[in-house]
Amino acid sequence: MTTAAAKAPAVTKEQAEAIYSKGLEGIIAGETAVCSIEQGGLWYRGYEIHDLAQNATFEEVAFLLLEGHKPSSSELARFKAELVSERALPGVVTNFIESMGGNLASGRAVPMDILRSCVSILGHVDPDSQSNEAAAGLRKSKRLLAKIPTMIGHMQNVIDGKAIIGRERGGDESLDMAANLLYMMTGSKPAKEYARVVDVSLILYAEHDFNASTFTSRCIAGTLSDMHGAVAGGIAALKGPLHGGANEMAMEMLKEIMKDCGEGAIGTKAVDDWMQKAFDTKRKLMGFGHRVYKNGDHRAPILHKLGKAVAEKDTKNPGGHAAIKWFLLGEQVQKIMLEKKNIHPNVDFPCGMTYFTMGIPVPQYTPIFVASRVTGWCAHIMEQHANNRIIRPLSKYTGEAPRKW
Ligand code: SDX
Repeated sequence: MTTAAAKAPAVTKEQAEAIYSKGLEGIIAGETAVCSIEQGGLWYRGYEIHDLAQNATFEEVAFLLLEGHKPSSSELARFKAELVSERALPGVVTNFIESMGGNLASGRAVPMDILRSCVSILGHVDPDSQSNEAAAGLRKSKRLLAKIPTMIGHMQNVIDGKAIIGRERGGDESLDMAANLLYMMTGSKPAKEYARVVDVSLILYAEHDFNASTFTSRCIAGTLSDMHGAVAGGIAALKGPLHGGANEMAMEMLKEIMKDCGEGAIGTKAVDDWMQKAFDTKRKLMGFGHRVYKNGDHRAPILHKLGKAVAEKDTKNPGGHAAIKWFLLGEQVQKIMLEKKNIHPNVDFPCGMTYFTMGIPVPQYTPIFVASRVTGWCAHIMEQHANNRIIRPLSKYTGEAPRKW
């Protein structure tokens, strides 16, 4: 019996060594129809990000990413009704969140880790959890998309020592996702203009090609493991301060500068000196830089403009404080980073200032990023399951030469 000739590797060892790039910088690691990002633009399924931020709602963008086309009005109505019907959490998840009250209050447990665990627990009770079929994947994607904001809302109530808002129905059915998220966290319905700012931030955060957390999810899906496990992996990756965690760290950095230099220092040399010291100590300044964008993150100016407009309303903003100072300080920091390092802000920098102006607690910034990016992750997980080849790159060995034991 002849053995089938071993398939020649697509890339020879020599070619592989020639294209090796640390952190896979510049390397194409797979194909996708979900999103394309270039220096010149960012498109979700062919729609450009400025067009979406201006003319779409987050629910429309979520439908686009999950289903692949712009929803008709009847499709959108059905999709939104399904999401509303899926917002409430199973008791086992709510009970877990409530059991973590002490750990959350002490800081031993952080919201991103609680969220990761909640998604895992959800997987234990989802009827489709072990199926990678397309229809099951879509059902699970919608359940995750609907329930993650509820997890964030309930978590915030527990941190605040308040009764859970919307335990039975997952908030207020008359509100869209962004407004309902704010309502579940605070107990008050946000003004339309503030809900729209959060809605646009969810559009901007929804999807971004093979970023670290999405690629993590694709690697897990690539072994034919399940969607909840792949999303839990994505949450673990997004938490890192070099990735999604940067939106929280960017705000903490601005608070540190304000504390060190004083409020009157905005625009003065004191901030320049603070930044120079950061450069001298090789400190990573959160909210700046990007692996792909070297001339600026298309999303950052969109969110900066929206957030600053809210902050300019002074104490009438949801944060209830003279928030404009954060944007003035942020603009000075941006200017120094550009002039001294030629490094642009990424979307996480304006996000920090904007969410702070909206009165959203800092530890919930990256969980809100999850509430949006779960749409991108699920679109990629379904795409990987639909046309899969296990993702298994090579490594460059730098260890000991072969030796006797
Ligand atoms: C997100 O990939 C995505 O698409 C991610 C994301 C998405 O939507 O999914 O866009 C979301 O994660 C945005 C990035 C958020 N992270 C941060 O803001 C953390 C700070 N940024 C840096 O850690 C860095 O810029 C990264 C992680 C974003 C990019 O890493 P790279 O590509 O390895 O960095 P680089 O090659 O552009 O930097 C070269 C040098 C650095 O050398 P190293 O210290 O890394 O060896 O430029 C300097 C630094 O010397 N530099 C910085 C800096 N970013 C780069 N110096 C100070 N502060 C920074 N922020």
